[in-house]
Amino acid sequence: MTKVVISGTGVFTPPYSISNAELVDSFNTYVSNFNAANADAIAKGTVEALAPSSAEFVHKASGIESRYVMNKTGILDPEIMAPRLRQRSNDEPSILAEMAVDAAKKALARANKTAADIDAVLVACSNLERPYPAIAVEVQELLGIEGFGFDMNVACSSATFGIQMAYDMLRSGSVRAVLIVDPEICTGHLNFRDRDSHFIFGDVCTAIVVERAETCTAKGAWEILGTRLVTKFSNNIRNNFGFLNRATPEGIGAKDKLFVQEGRKVFKEVVPMVSQLILDHMEAEGLDPKDLKRMWLHQANIGMNDFIGRKVLGRTPEPHEQPNILNEYANTSSAGSIIAFSQNSEDLKAGDLGLICSFGAGYSAGNVLVRKQA
Ligand SMILES: CC(C)(COP(=O)(O)OP(=O)(O)OC[C@H]1O[C@@H](n2cnc3c(N)ncnc32)[C@H](O)[C@@H]1OP(=O)(O)O)[C@@H](O)C(=O)NCCC(=O)NCCS
Repeated sequence: MTKVVISGTGVFTPPYSISNAELVDSFNTYVSNFNAANADAIAKGTVEALAPSSAEFVHKASGIESRYVMNKTGILDPEIMAPRLRQRSNDEPSILAEMAVDAAKKALARANKTAADIDAVLVACSNLERPYPAIAVEVQELLGIEGFGFDMNVACSSATFGIQMAYDMLRSGSVRAVLIVDPEICTGHLNFRDRDSHFIFGDVCTAIVVERAETCTAKGAWEILGTRLVTKFSNNIRNNFGFLNRATPEGIGAKDKLFVQEGRKVFKEVVPMVSQLILDHMEAEGLDPKDLKRMWLHQANIGMNDFIGRKVLGRTPEPHEQPNILNEYANTSSAGSIIAFSQNSEDLKAGDLGLICSFGAGYSAGNVLVRKQA
């Protein structure tokens, strides 16, 4: 069987960071303004007063301390509370493509590859800037890559599902190398006026080069030992934004056209699903979870990761066995586990076993078992 490796990864980190204190300050100004403007209706009981947010709650409930964003002023302005990004003309690179190109160049450099070595580009992410032409085809053009590209969306699991697609294409021999990019402007779909979720997301882009072991010249690549994907329908993480919204104009701008979730239910239902997926996958591969040197888990909530780590290893994982980057980046959807992998894998030794694992809306979950090469 053809051996396939992840030979390089790259991360584009946006230029601005917002701390919990800054975000909560803006939210609480919005709450005071709303409550003052609606004081009479609140007193009469016809409008419900809004409750303030708290930076301590956010950190304790999620593990998040800050998030990177593509635009800070719009998000923090209590009159706007959304990113404000300049509309690009059709002659300029789109914003997702620009982020993707930055991350891709870093991943290609780490993989010792150039555009001429790549045959396919997958843009795998939660939110696409437009339906067509595919962002992947634009990225392909900007980087000068021959072959083909297409966009795919499996929400938070887009990157691991993309790795599975690349793995299959490489094993079948239809391509020589695949570039996967995960541009995530999660602040575009986040309702910054919703107390339960206004702190969850940040923006970022990751990139991954996947190729056959025989063409790999990069040091310390990671052989893909196996992948396993699962999906199970749930409405607990949902976004009803879409091209048919104009057919029901009365719903345009409603809360359900942004990210909405039942956070508690997600926590309770996804954690056992993912723990079981990992344990079953390891067993099917004839591998012992205790041999895992590191797990790069999806970065949504520190409590979820702690729980999954304990279930898989049968003990509390050491911080280095399960690096969390969500304190700095927050939840970056499909990119989270790849940031953790990209920033925390170089210290491991040849022969070390690791697991990249994503989970999220759908529900969806994806595992990529990897072993470090010399
Ligand atoms: C979102 C999440 C962090 C919320 O944490 P939680 O502990 O479930 O919080 P709850 O919504 O149950 O609220 C607990 C309490 O905190 C309060 N609270 C909620 N948001 C608050 C805020 N921003 N500031 C202060 N208090 C807040 C609630 O009112 C509630 O108070 P009560 O106990 O008096 O009723 C958590 O559910 C989560 O991370 N879930 C995983 C899902 C996920 O991240 N999905 C993303 C896509 S993968």
